Amino acid sequence: MIGFDKEKRIFKLDTENTSYIFGVEDDFGYLIHYYYGPKLAGNDVSYLARTEGNRPSERLREKCSFLDYAPMEYPTAGAGDFRETAFEAEMEEGHNTSEFSYVNHKIYKGKKKLLGLPATFGSEEECESLDIVLEDKLLNLRITLTYSVFEGLDAIARSLEVTNFGSEKSIYITKIMSTCLDVDDDDYSILTLHGSWARERRIEYRKLGHGNQGVSSLRGESSHQESPFIALTSKNISQTEGEVYGFSFVYSGNFTAGAYLDQFNKVRVTMGINPYHFRWKLAPGETFTAPEVISVYSGTGLGHMTRTFHDLYRKHLIRSPYRNKKRPILINNWEATYFNFNTEKLLAIAKEAAKLGIEMLVMDDGWFGKRNDDNSSLGDWFVNEEKLPGGLKPLVDGVNALGLKFGIWMEPEMICPDSDLYRAHPDWAIQVPGRTPTRSRNQLVLDLTREEVWEHTWNSVKNTLKSANIEYLKWDMNRQLTDLGSLGLPADRQGELFHRYMLAVYRMQEALITEFPNLLLENCSGGGARFDAGMLYYSPQIWTSDDADAVERLKIQEGTALVFPLSTMGAHVSDCPNHAVGRVTPFKTRGDVALAGTFGYELDVTRIPEADRNMIPEQCATYHKYNDLVREGDYYRLASYSENGLYDAWMVKAKDDSEILVTYVNVTRLANYKDRFLKLQGLDAGRPYRDEETGRVYAADVLMHAGIPMEQFWGDNNSKLVHLVEIK
Ligand code: DGJ
Repeated sequence: MIGFDKEKRIFKLDTENTSYIFGVEDDFGYLIHYYYGPKLAGNDVSYLARTEGNRPSERLREKCSFLDYAPMEYPTAGAGDFRETAFEAEMEEGHNTSEFSYVNHKIYKGKKKLLGLPATFGSEEECESLDIVLEDKLLNLRITLTYSVFEGLDAIARSLEVTNFGSEKSIYITKIMSTCLDVDDDDYSILTLHGSWARERRIEYRKLGHGNQGVSSLRGESSHQESPFIALTSKNISQTEGEVYGFSFVYSGNFTAGAYLDQFNKVRVTMGINPYHFRWKLAPGETFTAPEVISVYSGTGLGHMTRTFHDLYRKHLIRSPYRNKKRPILINNWEATYFNFNTEKLLAIAKEAAKLGIEMLVMDDGWFGKRNDDNSSLGDWFVNEEKLPGGLKPLVDGVNALGLKFGIWMEPEMICPDSDLYRAHPDWAIQVPGRTPTRSRNQLVLDLTREEVWEHTWNSVKNTLKSANIEYLKWDMNRQLTDLGSLGLPADRQGELFHRYMLAVYRMQEALITEFPNLLLENCSGGGARFDAGMLYYSPQIWTSDDADAVERLKIQEGTALVFPLSTMGAHVSDCPNHAVGRVTPFKTRGDVALAGTFGYELDVTRIPEADRNMIPEQCATYHKYNDLVREGDYYRLASYSENGLYDAWMVKAKDDSEILVTYVNVTRLANYKDRFLKLQGLDAGRPYRDEETGRVYAADVLMHAGIPMEQFWGDNNSKLVHLVEIK
């Protein structure tokens, strides 16, 4: 619910358990932030800003210290706020100072779409929004800040539009953060998700020091290295206690997210498109739309923040018809064959898979052009008939005849210098004229911002998908952007390329799901370099990591699930020794860990040990038994292997509390040590539960405060599922 107190000029955004309060101050109309935290009944908190008596109309001689001190709702650069600001624009004359004042606002039911960008959505019954218009009359610039709140969720979405309403001059936006939050320091740390290829989204805490700190990407994608997520956490943070302000960016390109601790020990958090290499020309009459940031406040620990993001993204971001459906259990041939396959081999895998309960075969990289390794052919999206005689159709028909669906891999955004496409159109790659562009995996990036390149690429994707009964697409992206230059843009718009590239990718994904509404789309980027909220708007699942080792996955999936629903995490059982780390883990553990995601296989089922193969039917049955619960339930993190170095545990509870699935992985056995007791979370104390396996009955308060016994298995890396069913 959003309210405006006309007399005090105060806005109050209430969510289920939080309030966000700010107001208009001074004759000039500054937007000053007052409060974000546990829900308040009233709005009388403007004193928190400590601006009284110091506003420019009261004390003009010290305007600079006002600007450098006041908690600003959307701070802009140049006039005296020397902290990390949210907005900077350059005039044609070369100046870059701006000062925006409040003009008007509108509160309305529902939520606007963001032009060309992914964003959360909701009906008039589900959310309410506020648009605030600010203007800088000298620059002829208008900023419209938009806030939305969602029924029953502690989440606030923020984005903004900037319009050049002058009639003559262009303006260059050089920095545009999508959100900004000023809070008083409470000895916070920042929590971020860092990583690398095959090691994505590890949780990391850093004690906040003075100055600016945070995470960013300049790679043209959200990246393996740093994820577009940041949280401020209080000293005593745990799953169930402490304060956290979490921010997640609904964007897949360059970003920055930082916390600035200032001279007065106040913290400013900002998040938005990375300003480096960003310069957007706004010609008279033009509007720029900045992507959305979701902020979630929890006063009851990380767990509540996590579940809020999960609910928001499942209900208000993912649009795929698959979002509330079981995904077919797939088998992907990448780690099974790499590039070395043909129709016969794939049909042999499919035949064996079908017997075991697997439901879809996904043909990965290597089916097109002359692609027998990763040196050539990206862009040549015609079937390699030496591998697949007669094209896709005989293979797909053969797979379908076995009762399996068929899925395919593509990497539409890329072009190899060794490809027919490149030989015909060398200028289609992103490049700086006269400079040889840097190769990565022997490939370059197509300049999708050019209409003819976009059309050609879209036709390749469309024609491939139409050429046979293809029900799933893995859209991969295996290199970062370098040598930023577009032959389609004038010099004063080259600084727009990174963002225009993202808009072009989004446009193609939008075209894809419009043209093929029932296609199951899985985004991927060399593993999990595009695991972000932007991509979830188009695909209900994303490949989490190229590392499918069960133990490594505990850390990767813990970090990913801190923000993203389990239903979105691509997770497969792969062969051992694991291809990324060489570790050998029990087949059961690999299965139990993959059950926390979309579930599938990535191995040659005709060649794995018989004992492993024999476990597949039971694993598939377990997936069918628990997937509704895992996909739609509430996730609670019970223990963290990355923290304790010994074991990992999580649970998923049905929304109606009727059942609970606990997953426990004992990574390392502690010698001479008996059972440990795993305490559950979030239960309604009155309800008794029966352990399906042992028949033992537990009261909910016993489960939470005493816990269930978890044996320490003999040997490493063993796992256990415990299914608790409510006794009615
Ligand atoms: C990277 C992906 O993450 C892998 O799963 C696989 O599809 C390869 N690319 C293929 O090149």
